[in-house]
Amino acid sequence: MRDGLPNDFDPLVPETFDSPYEVFERLRRQCPVAHTHAWGGAWAFAKYDDVKTAASDSKTYITSVQNVVPKVAFTGRRPPLHLDPPEHTPYRAALNPLLSEAKVAPLEPAIRGFAAELLDPIIARGKGDICIDFSSHLPIYVFAHWMKMPAELVDALRTVGRNYNVAVQSNDVEVTKETSLELYRMARALIELRKANPLDPDEDPTSALLAARYEGQPLPDELIVGCVRQVLVVGIIAPTVVIGSICVHLSRHQDLQQKLRAEPALIPAALEEFLRLYTPYRGFARTAVREIEVRGVTIEPAEPIALLYASANRDEEVFPDPDEFKLDRPNIREHLAFGRGPHNCVGAPLARLELRVALEELLARTASFDLDGPIKQTRFPEIGALEVPLRFKRGA
Ligand code: HEM
Repeated sequence: MRDGLPNDFDPLVPETFDSPYEVFERLRRQCPVAHTHAWGGAWAFAKYDDVKTAASDSKTYITSVQNVVPKVAFTGRRPPLHLDPPEHTPYRAALNPLLSEAKVAPLEPAIRGFAAELLDPIIARGKGDICIDFSSHLPIYVFAHWMKMPAELVDALRTVGRNYNVAVQSNDVEVTKETSLELYRMARALIELRKANPLDPDEDPTSALLAARYEGQPLPDELIVGCVRQVLVVGIIAPTVVIGSICVHLSRHQDLQQKLRAEPALIPAALEEFLRLYTPYRGFARTAVREIEVRGVTIEPAEPIALLYASANRDEEVFPDPDEFKLDRPNIREHLAFGRGPHNCVGAPLARLELRVALEELLARTASFDLDGPIKQTRFPEIGALEVPLRFKRGA
């Protein structure tokens, strides 16, 4: 870390469910380009415009040095997140068509089935933890289904994926490393299976990556492994956390809970506002390729910069009364919960479908739900709920 840099915030102080947003508000007001001494030094952009500009400009702000603070990638490069364009492009070209809105729509009945399977026992019991018992499992079921994983790998992913999920969110480095290696082994097993028996690349993500070409050549084996490994978990953590956070909000606002239960057609609009308010990825990171100046602050190459998506989405200059839930924000689609630019979330259509179905099923199966104990929150680089004990009144 360079001498003389300020320590504007401490990301390691204990947090409550609401406290990070107070810190973000102060940063936007006092030091929108903030620096922390934590993790060997890191910058953070807190304003919407700066975050959006940096995420959109992949020539200046790259992901290949460090894409998250603190650095959690211990093992190998995992496309697409860890690569810069143009090396990044063929992985997106292979994955994008398999995650379009039209392509994921037919998954809805299966997702509804998984949601019911997980919700029924806890609702019958009258209580349960919506993260531990439901939202940390649902994305894994959905993922395994989308990736057409064979039964034995599905079972392994359900255990390892969940352990990885919990370890990352609790900053448990040892378990993160162990489970990450296990996920690599699973990625290799899936690739070997598809090499032996290829599926239609228009239908199967792994086969699409194996069929992809860059400058006429197949993608390097170890990067396909990295990509499958990344895809295995990248879409697991965010839905876990955001569903938990939504349930906290709906427990605190019973009127809104009843309104969405009575008018499920409002759920898609509500989801966008929830994604803005409870953006589950606090911030992904970039490094600049040259010395840059932002709002009068000089940042040197290779100094990590967290793009605080969760702060940008509460920037009062873009979203007035930013801490309030409003169903009718005219610019709601401008939120940055799924990022921007070349690394924007390829899985957004699947995520939106999964969140909508989860919320519809939860509301339809209950007459009401409420908090039943303390909320536990996750840490950087995520933000939101990790444990949310609820008590349920069953629906008719
Ligand atoms: C609530 C759910 C989700 C949220 C909020 C979310 C958010 C994000 C964000 C903010 C990024 C940008 C990273 C950056 O700027 O460096 C991203 C990238 C990515 N997401 Fe999601 N995500 C979600 C679910 C999913 C799902 C279900 C998938 C399924 C495949 C997925 C796959 C990916 C991939 C592969 C990338 C890397 C894209 C690239 O580097 O080109 N995500 N996601």
